[in-house]
Amino acid sequence: MTEIRGAVALVTGASRGIGKGIALAFGRAGMRVAVNYNSRADDAEAVVAAIKNAGGDALALRADVSRTVEAERLVAHVESAFGAINVLVNNAGILGVLKYDDVDEAEWERVIRVNLTSAFLVTKASLPGMLKAGWGRIINLSSVAAQTGGATAPHYAASKAGLVGMTHSYAARLAKTGITVNAIAPALIETDMVTGGLGASPERIPIGRFGTLEEAGETALFLVRNGFVTGQTINLNGGLYMSS
Ligand SMILES: NC(=O)c1ccc[n+]([C@@H]2O[C@H](COP(=O)([O-])OP(=O)(O)OC[C@H]3O[C@@H](n4cnc5c(N)ncnc54)[C@H](OP(=O)(O)O)[C@@H]3O)[C@@H](O)[C@H]2O)c1
Repeated sequence: MTEIRGAVALVTGASRGIGKGIALAFGRAGMRVAVNYNSRADDAEAVVAAIKNAGGDALALRADVSRTVEAERLVAHVESAFGAINVLVNNAGILGVLKYDDVDEAEWERVIRVNLTSAFLVTKASLPGMLKAGWGRIINLSSVAAQTGGATAPHYAASKAGLVGMTHSYAARLAKTGITVNAIAPALIETDMVTGGLGASPERIPIGRFGTLEEAGETALFLVRNGFVTGQTINLNGGLYMSS
């Protein structure tokens, strides 16, 4: 098991939902946490306050991670405040429009850029510092939609499948460097995206309820502590999709 107290973490899209659950879990584990958000500053500051009230260290940083300049500035800001990033969670994401017929080229590119290109941009900017530190963890938030398609819009499923390919490639490239790269494929965790955007209900989940932010946080913590799991997709889905 790796000692993670004091490690520097950047969680994109951590103002609410799964990113918030992961940021809080990291804070409880003694990591210094950069809480990225796009528009909801108050929500991000509340996550920072919760981490600090529990004795941890955190700061909120605004950046639209789908924009190259903002993604690079975000990483530079974290590094100047806390030092090199040890743990990167590429979590920021959007559902986009849900009707197949409403997905035009602009909408396709918007969702791919926010969900997939952003992960590439933030990873690329974080890697030099992570490599220098000689220890790192990259966790990409995929989705059950990458495995089953169908349930949601095609651009969303494609972006989430792209993250799995990206996970495999970086895991292979970085395997000898002390950096592991894994994906988490959730469904259905109780967040705005699921209860608002998707309008989902828990009946179709075999376990019979939504997953919690705490369960998402604990899954990410497992991937931070474990140094031998790499290139994997961890299914966090209450049995909605089963695979070996
Ligand atoms: N919930 C699930 O069951 C589920 C299932 C499969 C996959 N996922 C994936 O898990 C991740 C988190 O989902 P969620 O359900 O927690 O979503 P959510 O509740 O809608 O929260 C999305 C988060 O992403 C941030 N964000 C969106 N666009 C951004 C951008 N361009 N730059 C920076 N931050 C941005 C939002 O910031 P603001 O608050 O500032 O807007 C917010 O913090 C997503 O990648 C999603 O696709 C979730």
